[in-house]
Amino acid sequence: MRVTSLATLAANRRSVRGYLPDPLSRAAVAALIETARTAPSGANLQPGRLVVLTARPLAALIEALDAAVDEGRAPVQEYNWFPDPMPPHLKARQRAAGQALYAALGVERGDHLGRVAQFRRNYRFFDAPVGIVVTLDRAMGPGGFLDLGMALQTFALAAADAGLGSCGIGALARHADVVHQALALPKTEMVICGIALGRPDPAHPANAVRTARAPLPDYAEFRGFDD
Ligand SMILES: Cc1cc2nc3c(=O)[nH]c(=O)nc-3n(C[C@H](O)[C@H](O)[C@H](O)COP(=O)(O)O)c2cc1C
Repeated sequence: MRVTSLATLAANRRSVRGYLPDPLSRAAVAALIETARTAPSGANLQPGRLVVLTARPLAALIEALDAAVDEGRAPVQEYNWFPDPMPPHLKARQRAAGQALYAALGVERGDHLGRVAQFRRNYRFFDAPVGIVVTLDRAMGPGGFLDLGMALQTFALAAADAGLGSCGIGALARHADVVHQALALPKTEMVICGIALGRPDPAHPANAVRTARAPLPDYAEFRGFDD
């Protein structure tokens, strides 16, 4: 019987950027997706679609992305993630997350090549045995992103519960055109992000990263409580 509480599972989940090569079965990944799909969504629309890749199809996508990055293909911004300009308090959080990752990897502050090398690992799905491309119908409003996010966090928790690791890859959306072409995706779908999935490599330095969260009062305001 499982004894991990949801609070413990959620607190211990972290983004995994180093994987063991062990393949995952279709049934194992499908079980996680079934759990993810229990997430609620507005009007139960259940928007979004996952294209789950392993072995040759994953390698083919990675080759296409590698070639695009090699030739310096300009990024395609299909939707905005960050505010522009970024407010200082968010910039500070972004910088802290980046510094935690680079420190764990031993990439020094001015080591531009080291940073580029790590960034490129996004486009190899961090060498995970499974790579997932997440799409959303272009006709969906911002609420569709919300629905999708609910399902993706449920997916991440289900993976953690099964002893697997995962990492969102927003960087994939920067080369949405390459992904579209490589996977022959319908034009009606927007590439939202990727997900790396596999068994975490406990020895990989990237997996030593621990991120912090802003204090509760920065996030939640309580009104009308007696305690
Ligand atoms: C939708 C989404 C997209 C993400 N995209 C990337 C990415 O492109 N590259 C990366 O290294 N991490 C990516 N991450 C991981 C975040 O950096 C990470 O969740 C955050 O720093 C908090 O760390 P934790 O997941 O270990 O708690 C992404 C996470 C999410 C949820």
